Parts: sequence; structure tokens; C-alpha cells
Amino acid sequence: MSLVIRGLKKRLGGKPVLKGVDLEVREGETLVVLGRSGCGKTVLLKHIIGLMRPDEGEIWVDGRDITKLSFKELIEVRKQFGMVFQASALLDSMTVAENVGLGLRREKLSKDEIERRVSEALEMVGLEGWEEALPAELSGGMKKRVGLARAIVTRPKFLLYDEPTAGLDPVMARSIDRLIAELRERIFSTSVIVTHDIISAFSVCDRLAFLHEGRIRFLGYPEEARCSEDPVLREFFSGGIIPWREGAFGRG
Ligand SMILES: Nc1ncnc2c1ncn2[C@@H]1O[C@H](COP(=O)(O)OP(=O)(O)OP(=O)(O)O)[C@@H](O)[C@H]1O
Ligand SMILES: [Mg+2]
Repeated sequence: MSLVIRGLKKRLGGKPVLKGVDLEVREGETLVVLGRSGCGKTVLLKHIIGLMRPDEGEIWVDGRDITKLSFKELIEVRKQFGMVFQASALLDSMTVAENVGLGLRREKLSKDEIERRVSEALEMVGLEGWEEALPAELSGGMKKRVGLARAIVTRPKFLLYDEPTAGLDPVMARSIDRLIAELRERIFSTSVIVTHDIISAFSVCDRLAFLHEGRIRFLGYPEEARCSEDPVLREFFSGGIIPWREGAFGRG
């Protein structure tokens, strides 16, 4: 097991957000964590990379409980992670190449090596030749791709995605799904993707987890999720479809 979370609890703004999350991510797999808006998916990811400290619980990364590490040790562990942030989080005053190269500056690499690795990462996300563009010149989908290039440029062992398809049209969203699948073939990172996009989840995952009311309510293969009798899971999966079947658009 390369990433194991045990009994993770966190209160924020006086409310319990995570109430005892248990989760194991297997080496090399792509695990998708599904859950409704506001259920704590981003908070969970922030704990995994140590941007938030839990009230209780353990987070084991390659055999080390990162909740027990000092800030300095945590910075070292964090180098193994690439994170694709929910809102791309690009720096507007920097070019695409400078944004993608951010994580490489901490490493002692020559200027040429940085350039080469940045170009390689941009090529992997289908943005070769966009090095000198500014974020303001890019579409939402392209910004997501730049965010992805920035996350993979350090060749991380773990890749975390926060809502990689949110805010994109369905065609662009599917193209990001394909890209996630392609990257997985090329860089072999262990990946955790949090999303509420069910189509995306089923198309990219090895296994699915469902975060509900502060706990992992389901963990298993997509076929198992599809057959689940759990009414909460079924309601989530059918969201948006059932009201339409019942003629929600035809009433009133
Ligand atoms: N720094 C914070 N201070 C106080 N409350 C917070 C903080 N961060 C998150 N929360 C609360 O924790 C809950 C979970 O937030 P989180 O951002 O993890 O949700 P999410 O599942 O990622 O939602 P979405 O799908 O909309 O991105 C929310 O109720 C949010 O208001
Ligand atoms: Mg979120």
C-alpha cells in the first residue's frame, strides 16, 4: 500500500467535515473519490499533501505517517506529489513555461534541462509551442492542461487531481479524461482524482470511493458501484437523470 488514510477527522468553521475517513490507495492505481459539492473532497486532498493538518487520524505515505512530520520533513515528502488544483491556480503574470517550470526551480537543474522538461510536459498535454503564452490568452480547457503539465513536470510518484473537468463543456471534459488516461500510461503515477463528474469518474478510475457525510461510504470497482443497492449511492448516480425521466421539464 502506498497511501493509507486511517480515522481522518477534521473540523472546519465549527463543523465536522471529515468524521473518520479510512481509505487505501494501491500503488499504481487511479482512485476516484466522488462526492457531492461541499462534502470535503478538497479538504481530503489538502490533508494528503499536508496543506492541512488533521484533528485526528493518520496518513501513511510510503510507510511514513505524514501527520507526525515536521514542516521541513513535510516539504520533502511533498516533492513526491503533483497536484492539479480545482481552479488551475496559474500565476497570471508568468508565461505558460514559467508556470509549468515552477516546481522545477526548487531542484538544482540547468536552464536547458528545465526548458527541456517543461517542453516535454507541454507536449504530453497537447500544448507544444505554447511556452510563451500568458494564462489570460488561454481557454479554460487549456488552463487545465497547463495545470496538468505543471503537476507532472516533476515526475511525481503521486498525482492528485481536484475536479479536473469542472467548469468545462462536455467535449472538453472528455478530452481531459482521455488525457488523464494517456498520462497514466506514460508516467505510472499513483493517482487520486476527486470529482463530482460521474461520467469522468467511471471513464478514468480503477476503483471508486464515495465520500458522504464525512466518511467513505463505498469503496470498490466501478461494476460494484453500478450494482450497489445503497440508496444514497444510487441517488447520487442517478442525479440529473431521474428528474428528467419524470418529466421535470414538462411540468408547470
Ligand atoms: N478553510 C476553511 N475554513 C472553514 N471551512 C472550510 C474551509 N475549507 C473548507 N471548509 C468547509 O468544509 C466543507 C468541505 O469543503 P470542500 O472544499 O472540501 O468541499 P468539496 O467537496 O471540495 O466541494 P466542491 O465539490 O464544491 O469543490 C465545506 O462546508 C467548506 O465550507
Ligand atoms: Mg472541491
